[in-house]
Amino acid sequence: MGEEEDLDVQLEAQLAEQEEFEPPEEFVEQANVSDPGIYEEFEEEWPQSWERAADLLDWDQEWDAVLDDSDAPFYEWFVDGELNAAYNCVDRHVESGRKNHAAIKWEGEAGETRTYTYQDLYREVNEFAAALRELGVEEDDVVTLHLPMIPELPIAMLACARIGAPHSVVFAGFSADALATRMNAADSEYLITCDGYYRRGDALDHIEKANNGLAGVEHDVEDVVVVDRLGDELPHQLAENQHDYAELVAAQEGERVEPVSRDAEDMLFLMYTSGTTGKPKGAKHTTGGYLSYAAWTTQSVLDVKPEDTYWCAADIGWITGHSYIVYGPLALGSTTMMYEGTPDYPDKDRLWEIVEKNAVDIFYTAPTAIRAFMKWGEEYPATRDLSSLRLLGTVGEPINPRAWKWYYKHIGNESCPIVDTWWQTETGGMMITTLPGINNMKPGSAGPALPGIDAKVIAPDKSEVEPGRAGHLTIQRPWPGMLRTVYKNDERFIQEYWEAYSNPEEDEWVYFPEDGAKIDDDGYITVLGRIDDVINVSGHRLGTMEIESAVVGVEGVAEAAVVGGSHEVKGEAVYVYAITEDESGGDEDLHDRVIDGVEEAIGPFARPEEIVFTPELPKTRSGKIMRRLLEDIANGNELGNTSTLRNPDVVEDIQQQVRSD
Ligand code: WTA
Repeated sequence: MGEEEDLDVQLEAQLAEQEEFEPPEEFVEQANVSDPGIYEEFEEEWPQSWERAADLLDWDQEWDAVLDDSDAPFYEWFVDGELNAAYNCVDRHVESGRKNHAAIKWEGEAGETRTYTYQDLYREVNEFAAALRELGVEEDDVVTLHLPMIPELPIAMLACARIGAPHSVVFAGFSADALATRMNAADSEYLITCDGYYRRGDALDHIEKANNGLAGVEHDVEDVVVVDRLGDELPHQLAENQHDYAELVAAQEGERVEPVSRDAEDMLFLMYTSGTTGKPKGAKHTTGGYLSYAAWTTQSVLDVKPEDTYWCAADIGWITGHSYIVYGPLALGSTTMMYEGTPDYPDKDRLWEIVEKNAVDIFYTAPTAIRAFMKWGEEYPATRDLSSLRLLGTVGEPINPRAWKWYYKHIGNESCPIVDTWWQTETGGMMITTLPGINNMKPGSAGPALPGIDAKVIAPDKSEVEPGRAGHLTIQRPWPGMLRTVYKNDERFIQEYWEAYSNPEEDEWVYFPEDGAKIDDDGYITVLGRIDDVINVSGHRLGTMEIESAVVGVEGVAEAAVVGGSHEVKGEAVYVYAITEDESGGDEDLHDRVIDGVEEAIGPFARPEEIVFTPELPKTRSGKIMRRLLEDIANGNELGNTSTLRNPDVVEDIQQQVRSD
């Protein structure tokens, strides 16, 4: 992105705060939540106020207490309650006379469609759960799912939930190495994957990658289930412990599996996410608190009603898809859309065609997608009838006001509220956003914290910062959807999220999401981005340390630093600065091998935008790499004082290289 444009975006961000949009009256009249008193009610009753979330579910056993904070920050929610997530997302809708209602509407990239009614879903979830049982999967066994956007992914998740086996979904775009790392970390002995899938018309081989991943698993893998997505287009051989999904399900025809009653605090799933170190952390989410929170936020923020056709155009391989494609909408008994492919295939109006064809009511996506739509042009949505839309949402990264307004006008026809929802893998569900039937919207600012959520923007001395000033975002109270720990690493859980701002002696616990933010006089929070070594590329959360270790692993690279640089569409892009072993300027071959190294270690979505070979990296006198400076170079910003550097000369060198590319 050019310097001027960059400045534009910054300027816009400042101006935007003065702008406000009221929610359309027509929307307010029908909104699930429209009484502003909800904020106060939540305060008065807290933590009991969270019972309204749990009350959205059917419990086998009522909880004894809403919150147990005796072992903070290892909080427990809905203590001693028991329930089953699959029962709540499937069975109860069948039992309540809605068996013929569409649960999942799926569209493949080539245009084929499949609709699963709640009855269909019930049947297949049961049969696959029976198959998993027969393979030997027991309660509490972690089952890894490495699947793209095909219906078998949510079905497998629900089948696992039915038998009380936590799932660990690994995004299909992750590499073999990344799959192995996650299976090893979770001691997972079962894998569900597929032969391949379609991407822009091509049949993509997935099983070869999965098999390479399996080769890197350090323990015995009991069984692998392979969904045959591509048929004859990609013939594949199954190894001895590999089973064809369709055959397994067919063999269990008509089988029913009693949903296992799980303790509210039993693990529903694990989701690995990037952090400061090179090792991904497994966020542990529970059955009662997580599901209550996903259902409640889907209802209150996304305004989903059972009769809605709702579409979250994310990938189930990330937390957004878990909470807002699968668990939230299905818990509420609505229709959730799934699309296999890319938004520009066969043409750039594909998503709008899907909205039109299915009369989608609610659409939820990421700012990076909106910026791509903007670039493609308003003519694409203009040719489609989008009048069914009632509400729009965004998630994953800050949205610049220009993109917000484009979305508002060209997708929402200025008649749909937009919810800009801030949350994380760790929070399980939305935390900071307007309630669409209550609050005015301010483009660029997510909004106030949700009822019951206590968010503060604070300075290093823990005092609250003045409105308009940047500080650190903190959450001062627990909430039901929060991660319970970093899987098998309680210490890291404390270190990463609680140590910075808590006061253990006083038993005061403050959650630190590692985001910077500012707050305005109305309590609206603008999230500024990560303050740790995590970057956000096209809404994908990446650890720069993970990328660095991949780069350093490439033969010929001696040292490397990875930072994020701003990017017009992706939000951030990966910038690699590397010192070669022979201190040469590197060559094309090394350049390509660095790209391969990153793609192999993580996946194509982490591909570096720019690789700069340099004889030195800018370091402080104590030898620390000045990442800030490298970020400024990537962003084409003015550089501040470089006199504290041990090697100030290197800066100009690097700068010139970046500019000349
Ligand atoms: C960023 C995705 C600004 C933030 C659900 C957070 C956002 C990280 C927003 C979590 C938003 C998410 N405005 N920034 N509305 N939503 N983020 O774990 O930096 O993939 O910490 O969860 O995305 O990314 P994750």
